[in-house]
Amino acid sequence: MVLSLDRFANLANSISSKLKVDLIQLESKIFPDEESYLRIPESIKDEKVVVIHSCFPQQDKRLIELFMILDNARVLGAKEIISVIPYLAYARQDKRFRDGETIGISTIAKLIRLCGTNTFITVNIHEKSSLDLFNIRSINLSAMLELGSYIKGLNLKNPIVVAPDRGALEDAKEVAKVMKTDYTFFDKTRDLKTGEVRAGSKEADVGDRDVVIVDDIISTGGTIANIAKIVKKQGAEKVLAACTHALLIKDSRDKLHNAGVNEIIGTDTVDSDVSRVSVANIIVDILRTLI
Ligand code: R5P
Repeated sequence: MVLSLDRFANLANSISSKLKVDLIQLESKIFPDEESYLRIPESIKDEKVVVIHSCFPQQDKRLIELFMILDNARVLGAKEIISVIPYLAYARQDKRFRDGETIGISTIAKLIRLCGTNTFITVNIHEKSSLDLFNIRSINLSAMLELGSYIKGLNLKNPIVVAPDRGALEDAKEVAKVMKTDYTFFDKTRDLKTGEVRAGSKEADVGDRDVVIVDDIISTGGTIANIAKIVKKQGAEKVLAACTHALLIKDSRDKLHNAGVNEIIGTDTVDSDVSRVSVANIIVDILRTLI
C-alpha cells in the first residue's frame, strides 16, 4: 500500500493507480503552535508500505512530517518501508565547504534510515555520491529523459542544450541525447559566504538558436538567469529553463523573465504550474521491481 499526505495527492494518486495498490491518505492537521499532527487511519501491520513524500518549502516542516510518518509506520508494524522522496531537501549541503559546517544531507540520510526506511528512492539527487550516506538500498532516478522528450515535442528552432555549470553537464547530455541535438556548458563560481553565483565567460554556439538551459534545481533563479543573459547577448532566440525540481522561491520567476527566459519547465517532484512533466512513470517502473 501507498501512504501519503494530501499535499502530494497528484503524484501519489497517479503512482498508486498505475501500480493498482491502495492509497492511504494520512490524516494531518497543524496545532495552533505550528506543531504537526499526523495519523495513519488504517492498519499497516505486516504490510509492505511505500511512503511518498517530498521536501519542497517549508523543507524543515516536510522533513519532520516524514520522520514522524516513517517512525509511526515502523512502530505500527509495517513489514517493510520504501521511502519515495522525489525532491530531497538539504542534498546541496553535501560537503564541508568551510571548516565547522554541518553536512545537512548526512544528518537527513541518517534520520531517514533510523526512522525505519528499508529502501530509499529519490529523483535527481544533487550529488549521486550522497546515496552512500544512507547505508540502506538507495536509488536515484533521473527525470532528464522525460524532460528531454517533452522539450523535443516543442519543436524548437535548431535547439542547443546548455548546462549552467559542470555539475549539470550529465543532465544536459541526457536531455540533448533525447532531443538529438548538441550541448555545451558554462563554469560557475559561488561565493562560499554570501552564496552569490557568477558564470564564467564563454562564447557558446547559440546564435539564432533556441536555448534550453538544464539544471537539477531552480531555487532563486540566479544560476540560470546569469546564463540566460549571456546567451541572449550572444544572439540566442528563445530561452527555456528546464529542471527537475522547480522550487522557484521568492522573486525567481521575475528574475528569470527579466533575464530573457521565455518558459520554465519543471516536473511534479515539486507540484506547481510549471510541473509539465511527471516523474510518476519512472517511480512506478522501479517500484514494480520492488513490491
Ligand atoms: C547547484 O549547484 C544546483 O545544481 C543549482 O544550480 C542551484 O541550486 C540553483 O540555485 P539557484 O536557482 O538559487 O541559483
